[in-house]
Amino acid sequence: MKFFIDTANLEHIREAVDMGVLDGVTTNPSLMAKEGIREVRSHYRRIAEMVPDVSAEVLATDYNGIVAEGRDLASIHEHITVKIPMIKDGVKAIRTLSEEGIRINCTLIFSPVQALIAAKAGARYVSPFLGRLDDIGHEGMQLVEEIRLIFDNYAFNTEILAASIRHVEHLRSAALVGADIATMPFAVIEKMLKHPLTDRGLEAFLADAKRNG
Ligand code: G3P
Repeated sequence: MKFFIDTANLEHIREAVDMGVLDGVTTNPSLMAKEGIREVRSHYRRIAEMVPDVSAEVLATDYNGIVAEGRDLASIHEHITVKIPMIKDGVKAIRTLSEEGIRINCTLIFSPVQALIAAKAGARYVSPFLGRLDDIGHEGMQLVEEIRLIFDNYAFNTEILAASIRHVEHLRSAALVGADIATMPFAVIEKMLKHPLTDRGLEAFLADAKRNG
């Protein structure tokens, strides 16, 4: 399973890279705005120099606009993946850009058939938003399970990028149902390491070693 960090914060990306387990970064317009990024191109370039894969989202919503913006984003760095929302013109643009060899992450996926269409159009990744489905009383993880089944039924090589992960339990379930990638906030990456019995066990080991020494 690949781990991506869901942020545009360079310090968090650096810390996660230093842990040695990070495979990529996902951003979205909200995350970019949260960091107050104005120089979008140079910011994406800086991230792309740190990790092998960074999703940069288009803002256009019409076919020509998405294609033009997608090509422009992809030209920033070879590590850029163009993130395109699941809308009609987006699907059309996914087909065009993926045929040009541009890696596409189809975002805002909330149903299994949306994922199926994106995969047929040639998306490299689909991003089901688990947390946002949970927020409205649905079972987000069921969506990932169904997408896994559909992709396996038809041998699609589109990867499932579990997104909108809010806590470690989301990550555990995403791994159990076979998501290829999980993108999560820095806080979740930090929490993955933690278990109170690990802390208590280490404390006891060190105390015993001191007694012997
Ligand atoms: O990057 C997309 C997704 O991970 C957003 O998560 O927490 O805003 O629903 P969230």
